[in-house]
Amino acid sequence: MSEREGGAGAGAGAGAGERAIDRELEERAVAAQPLAYAPYSRFPVGAAVRMGGKTYEGVNVESASFPLTVCAERNAIGAAVRDGARRLEAVVVCSNASPPSAPCGGCRQVLLEFAADPAAVTITAVNPQGERRTWMLAELIPHGFSGRELP
Ligand code: THU
Repeated sequence: MSEREGGAGAGAGAGAGERAIDRELEERAVAAQPLAYAPYSRFPVGAAVRMGGKTYEGVNVESASFPLTVCAERNAIGAAVRDGARRLEAVVVCSNASPPSAPCGGCRQVLLEFAADPAAVTITAVNPQGERRTWMLAELIPHGFSGRELP
């Protein structure tokens, strides 16, 4: 798996504008993380997604009935969809994990739902200490179920 670790910016080949947008996305995910409601896991997560050129945040929201928990990424997608956005461009997820943790399998599937080209969607995991890992969505969910198979 070609994973890029550390360093500033969005990765090799990104232009200055793209890097500025990715920094904003990262700042929004980091700022959202403390607002997570995670009293059971004590694993707060903040996510920021860029969809249709705009940025939307989400945090994980847990429940005493554990399986009802909703991940930060899915709450960010919900906010974007509510605003009419449909095309996913980039994701940043912030947790306290070291190294920074990638989105869960369920969230990968939901992110895929809105990716016109999963090979062009960057997924960046960060933590408040400034560690960073980046993948393309296509790497995190290869051979995913796109829905095109449906009748
Ligand atoms: N969590 C997320 O919000 N996103 C992920 O991608 C991984 C897990 C949340 C769910 C739960 O509230 C806590 O982290 C521990 O699993």
